[in-house]
Amino acid sequence: MSRFAAPIAESIWDMKYRFKSADGTPIDGTVEDTWRRVARALAAVEKEPETWEERFYAALEDFRFLPAGRITAGAGTGRNVTLFNCFVMGTIPDDMAGIFEMLKEAALTMQQGGGIGYDFSTIRPRGAEVKGVGADASGPLSFMDVWDAMCRTIMSAGSRRGAMMATMRCDHPDIEAFIEAKRDPARLRNFNLSVLVTDPFMDAVRQDKPWDLVFGGKVYRTVQARDLWNKIMRATYDYAEPGVIFIDRINAMNNLSYCETIAATNPCGEQPLPPYGACLLGSINLARLVRDPFGEDAELDLQELDELVRTAVRMMDNTIDASRFPLPQQKEEAHAKRRIGLGVTGLADALLMLKLRYGSEEAARQTEEWMHRIAHTAYLASVDLAREKGAFPLFDAEKYLASGTMRQMDEDVREAVARHGIRNALLTSIAPTGTISLYAGNVSSGIEPVFAYAYKRKVLLKDGSRIEEEVVDYAVQLWRERFGDAPLPDWFVDAQTLAPLDHVRMQAAAQKWVDSSISKTINCPEEISFEAFKDVYLAAYESGCKGCTTYRPNPVTGSVLSVSESA
Ligand code: CDP
Repeated sequence: MSRFAAPIAESIWDMKYRFKSADGTPIDGTVEDTWRRVARALAAVEKEPETWEERFYAALEDFRFLPAGRITAGAGTGRNVTLFNCFVMGTIPDDMAGIFEMLKEAALTMQQGGGIGYDFSTIRPRGAEVKGVGADASGPLSFMDVWDAMCRTIMSAGSRRGAMMATMRCDHPDIEAFIEAKRDPARLRNFNLSVLVTDPFMDAVRQDKPWDLVFGGKVYRTVQARDLWNKIMRATYDYAEPGVIFIDRINAMNNLSYCETIAATNPCGEQPLPPYGACLLGSINLARLVRDPFGEDAELDLQELDELVRTAVRMMDNTIDASRFPLPQQKEEAHAKRRIGLGVTGLADALLMLKLRYGSEEAARQTEEWMHRIAHTAYLASVDLAREKGAFPLFDAEKYLASGTMRQMDEDVREAVARHGIRNALLTSIAPTGTISLYAGNVSSGIEPVFAYAYKRKVLLKDGSRIEEEVVDYAVQLWRERFGDAPLPDWFVDAQTLAPLDHVRMQAAAQKWVDSSISKTINCPEEISFEAFKDVYLAAYESGCKGCTTYRPNPVTGSVLSVSESA
């Protein structure tokens, strides 16, 4: 019997994760071979590799723990690839030589794949004086165009996917140009843009105060904070860009606030990272852990969840040592802090199987409880690893425990960390899981609601012909197996029909127990009023989210989001 829960899962495996030689001959005969290869590669750094290989294999089996696609595709292949998905580049210096040095570093990183984030706030504004040249500065936006061209060129040379994120502070003098940049449908297509919104700015918006745009200590202009906020909101309402990142909250909560300052995230936003920061991702597939789905006794198997979390933390920690890095600075960063981003996928499917309506108070409560359990188990697993293998090199008990996240952490975890240290400075994050959730049998991705219960997809067959294949959500498949064609009950809601504030409620519930951030899109109906739209962002800010990304159907980016199939 096939291991795959859906035909699409097998084709994703074959296209993206199956190890093949350069001429396309498969080396992984079956998906079991893929699991074996990954388990072996990640166990190779252990003192007792055989024992750990078996445990790692057991976690991968049946798509219960899903390392990010890059790990499944690259581990144990001997290829010159990194196993990390997320990078933020070094601080861009405000001089020509430094800027182009950073462009080069970005190109080398992009060549190995992975999403890259940059903060462009460090470049002096357009029109500022350039000493010694007798000219005016061209400003950060013009350099972003150069980065965009670099990305296009590298991708056209056949490199693996590469998405980019650019951030800019809300007090940079060129912020308005940044906000408006993507109104031009031909511009910056390889970038997602996000404004770094600070707490003083949000206060100024609330109190309708003036707001200084500054660079290098000099005030260039003063605007009304509310006008600037409205500009951000209007652009986002019209064409879904830029996103908003609550940067002060990110830094205040960060376990490492004593040794790093964050000003950028990876492209999908779940990983706020310092300069040269890198992170790898992995997700527990909650949809596979529900016992008696839709039944009287439906429940998540918590013992199995704990076991998987412990094994996953160890596997991800090993990945740091097994991986290559595009730049030595990234390697040094990763080894000094040993960040990992363990999260979940299939959350909405799991809730469905428990008959909970995504977005309801009950579903939010359940989500918070599961995420709490995952964080608790993951932190303790990392403490155990510290006892066995040592804490991360920059660990400082007192400072670490003073961070926003650790102040809210359970007392038993705080005590264990104080006594033994911790192996991984940050542990949790929720990725989009765009491809791995298809590979796992089309489970709902990350913490998103189900996007479409069924849709048709064109598939290219080996003989060159095309067929249309129905792709059905994993929970719906189970429902159909059990109840045939009985109509789906009313708790089967989807991303489009949910109220925007229900999306926010779920993001906020999960964020309480996620030390990094969450990739989440809040779908808004086309007819939502501008005022109601702005309230979504205020709700996200007030409920403790670290950022907010919405999507409202619009003429620039289209009516529906496309399902990503890249790996
Ligand atoms: O499903 P998979 O593990 O392949 O990846 P994902 O969870 O959808 O994306 C994880 C991260 O990979 C994103 O946040 C990006 O940093 C990066 N990524 C990218 O660089 N380009 C894409 N087209 C998609 C993801």
